[in-house]
Amino acid sequence: MPSIAASVLSRTAQPHPAHWSEITAGLGAPQASISPKYFYDQRGSELFEAITRLPEYYLTRTERALMHSHGGAIAAAVGAGRVVIEPGAGSCDKAHDLCLRLAATHFVGVDISADYLHGAIARLRAALPGLDARAVGGDITAGLRLPAGIPAERRLVFYPGSSIGNFDPPQAVALLAQMRALAGDDGALLIGIDLPKDRAVLEAAYDDAAGVTAAFNRNVLAHANRLIGSDFDLRQWRHRAFFNPVASRIEMHLQAQGRQRVRWPGGGRDFAAGECIHTENSYKHPLPAFTALLREAGFARSQSWTDARGWYAMVHARA
Ligand code: AVI
Repeated sequence: MPSIAASVLSRTAQPHPAHWSEITAGLGAPQASISPKYFYDQRGSELFEAITRLPEYYLTRTERALMHSHGGAIAAAVGAGRVVIEPGAGSCDKAHDLCLRLAATHFVGVDISADYLHGAIARLRAALPGLDARAVGGDITAGLRLPAGIPAERRLVFYPGSSIGNFDPPQAVALLAQMRALAGDDGALLIGIDLPKDRAVLEAAYDDAAGVTAAFNRNVLAHANRLIGSDFDLRQWRHRAFFNPVASRIEMHLQAQGRQRVRWPGGGRDFAAGECIHTENSYKHPLPAFTALLREAGFARSQSWTDARGWYAMVHARA
């Protein structure tokens, strides 16, 4: 993962010289890589939505069930009347249920894709007329300014979906520290994390039988072709996903099927048969290790809820 950005899960990536520099630098490194933030063009976002409905991809449905079954206890711990702030809010579906349960006074959805977010906020306002709901286009790592009238007290930063797992630990700590700053001294964080589990379950979730995750992974090359003018032939790259037990993470790669010569304006690279481009890490932190990251980021006194299988956790951490 390159720069620390909640935008990893944002729904757009616009052509820009910075993308060119970042992508070509990654492709030119000894271990070639492309940041996972480039998964999320229009097609990639649609494929990700399809992934969340796959039988093998337990994360989304486990989190939803957990929020349902432990919703009362979570709401009691968080407390009513909160100002909920969600980085990478997207469709605001999860925020709707949480704000309803918490009788939240305010909601601020933050997303790089401001257009998409505005529609979601309008629907949220219609569904919960008592809620002061606002959209902020931006990224919490880039010195986010919240709109006037958003109270500085009783803030809850809400970061569901286990997206923190897509950041390497030092970057995760830096992002959590940004959330701590946003929450303020009397604030808190409610965050979803995917836990370590049976290797076969993990690997199936990232290499499903229908090939949706494979298409999602390969789509990053189509996006790169548009952003930097490269000539990747998607049919020549095979999806690879495996659990790395030392780092406790799923790694996704694209593996060259035969020798590949890839060119882009101003450069290019030859790939040997079998050589890989690293596209994503998805960390599966054990709860104690995650609690240590929270502490490093300035959070204290955390409480967590897990599902009956111990596959997923919602963690509430006070600043
Ligand atoms: C967005 N993020 C939490 C997903 C994950 O599980 O790491 C991205 C993903 N990659 C492959 N499948 C889903």
